[in-house]
Amino acid sequence: MKHELEMTKPDYLIEDWPDKYNEFSWLEYVVSVPNSMFLVSTLKANGNANANLQSWGLLLGEEDEYWSLIAIKKGQHTYENILREREWCINYPSYKDYPKCFETIYSNGTSVDEIIKSGFEIEKSRTIKTPRIKESLINLECKLKWKKPLYDRSNWYLFAGKVTHVAIDDSIITSDPKERIKNLQLMYNIRGTVNPLNGDFYGPNSIGIIDTVVKIFEDDGQPKEWKRK
Ligand SMILES: Cc1cc2nc3c(=O)[nH]c(=O)nc-3n(C[C@H](O)[C@H](O)[C@H](O)COP(=O)(O)O)c2cc1C
Repeated sequence: MKHELEMTKPDYLIEDWPDKYNEFSWLEYVVSVPNSMFLVSTLKANGNANANLQSWGLLLGEEDEYWSLIAIKKGQHTYENILREREWCINYPSYKDYPKCFETIYSNGTSVDEIIKSGFEIEKSRTIKTPRIKESLINLECKLKWKKPLYDRSNWYLFAGKVTHVAIDDSIITSDPKERIKNLQLMYNIRGTVNPLNGDFYGPNSIGIIDTVVKIFEDDGQPKEWKRK
């Protein structure tokens, strides 16, 4: 049985922090599909590095055109930095570094280098001025191509950039997906889930990490559990 939800927030969904459902759609907490977490580094006007913990974004493209699409709230330092410098770097941190990732949110002053202040090390990029985060096992250097609001009046903006260089740590250079996922320790943002039928909620967000990789094809390329006719 499926529950069909109308696009109107039920009155019994109570905010557990002020403005929660103005800042984010209530459906985000009902649907609660995890997004991978990453740090976006940019350059501040004074040349210091800015680090922004994000989870609304994806990578896609064809041939040598590999693009990064990120959603940024207007008013964040990252928003102004990208419009001024027209570049950013996507850095995928490991679970062991999650306290440092959250520290980037609190070390947010213009006078500090947020990568260093949060306990990470900076690393020189190859194609952009913005530094990379050294501890991240994957870094993607990106140049801005376009930006647009999610919809009229939205504070969310989509930024699309072409990936101009990629750096991958030796520890995840393997063709074995299990080994790669184990070493990458990628984090997923799991929203504090809300029950849309009665308003019960868990509260804070959680972090997910993948602990199972299921092989669905045999070595001959055939599906494992079912055979194509
Ligand atoms: C798990 C998590 C995911 C987040 N994802 C995003 C995101 O995708 N886009 C965004 O604009 N802010 C996101 N934020 C909020 C920013 O990390 C936060 O506002 C940050 O301090 C802004 O930094 P800045 O002003 O230096 O750009 C996220 C926060 C957390 C805790």
